[in-house]
Amino acid sequence: MIIKEIKFDIVCDEINLNKKINIADRRQSSHPEYNNWDNFQKSLDKAASVLGYCYYPKSFNDYLMSLPGKFSYLNPIEKTFKILGDCKGIIKFAHQHGKSTFSRYSDDYESLRILTTAQPLKHNGKIMIGKNAWPRIELIEHISSLCNGIQNPTVLDAGCGTGLNMYLLAKSKPEMQISGFEYTHSRMASCFINLIYESFYEELFLGDVTKIDLPDESYDVVFSNHVLEQLGQANAEVALKEVFRVCKKGAVLCEPSIHNATAYEKWRMTKLGYCRDLLAITKKIPNCIVKEYKEDTIRYYPNTSYTLVLEKKL
Ligand SMILES: C[S@@+](CC[C@H](N)C(=O)[O-])C[C@H]1O[C@@H](n2cnc3c(N)ncnc32)[C@H](O)[C@@H]1O
Repeated sequence: MIIKEIKFDIVCDEINLNKKINIADRRQSSHPEYNNWDNFQKSLDKAASVLGYCYYPKSFNDYLMSLPGKFSYLNPIEKTFKILGDCKGIIKFAHQHGKSTFSRYSDDYESLRILTTAQPLKHNGKIMIGKNAWPRIELIEHISSLCNGIQNPTVLDAGCGTGLNMYLLAKSKPEMQISGFEYTHSRMASCFINLIYESFYEELFLGDVTKIDLPDESYDVVFSNHVLEQLGQANAEVALKEVFRVCKKGAVLCEPSIHNATAYEKWRMTKLGYCRDLLAITKKIPNCIVKEYKEDTIRYYPNTSYTLVLEKKL
């Protein structure tokens, strides 16, 4: 493992931040592209250069985070319409308070964006207008129930991208100790920038889900959201074994599946070389109980997503 210390300064009017970033590279890659630390520095600088200033009052953030609970009694279609109504207020608020897409609170903005972006999606065979935030919110709820009974559970986001899930998780489940890793420099750099004002995360590092450089059972729960899909069926099998090895209690995976996929979705998965059937892989893993396997309430058309909750047999 290589540990790099990168000095990184951000000065803003309200907060003087002079932060040193210690980043562990646990990818074991000999590819020159992945060992070019200038690239990482450049990615950090780039992400920071578009860092705008966009302050949302805490009450607004609290309001945003309360939305899933607020509508929990509704069925998915009612939720969709209720949220559409609510989103008008959210959009108005965002416009009044700044709308830089890469703002200091870009994750707030991102959560706004996913809550407010209308996209065509299918529900019960009908094309609807909906919100693709729900699968993420469902992911968080699944992680939370798997952590039930564990005090200050440790949670790892495998393939954390720009950090949105970690952010949403931390804001809604502050008792959790959250870490994440990512393969690419640029995404990890954006993740650092997105979370730089937050102190909730335990560790962010560069890592490879097909070879996680961590001891067995390092985290209570490991999760991934649309990461294993990209690896193809054979590598997803390797990755799932790794995820299962590193977790103590279990894993939550939100990934597409060939089951119930439409002809177009099946074609798309094949064309992109996606992993098609994670459920089949779980059957090969010893001591693995599939606790839940269900389609997201609202589908990410055309990337049908299924939630798999895996628990370790005691
Ligand atoms: C579709 S994005 C999802 C990002 C994030 N999980 C989310 O929900 O926003 C897929 C991510 O998987 C990462 N990834 C792909 N292969 C990986 C690997 N072998 N190890 C770790 N991350 C990987 C990509 O760099 C990318 O950020």
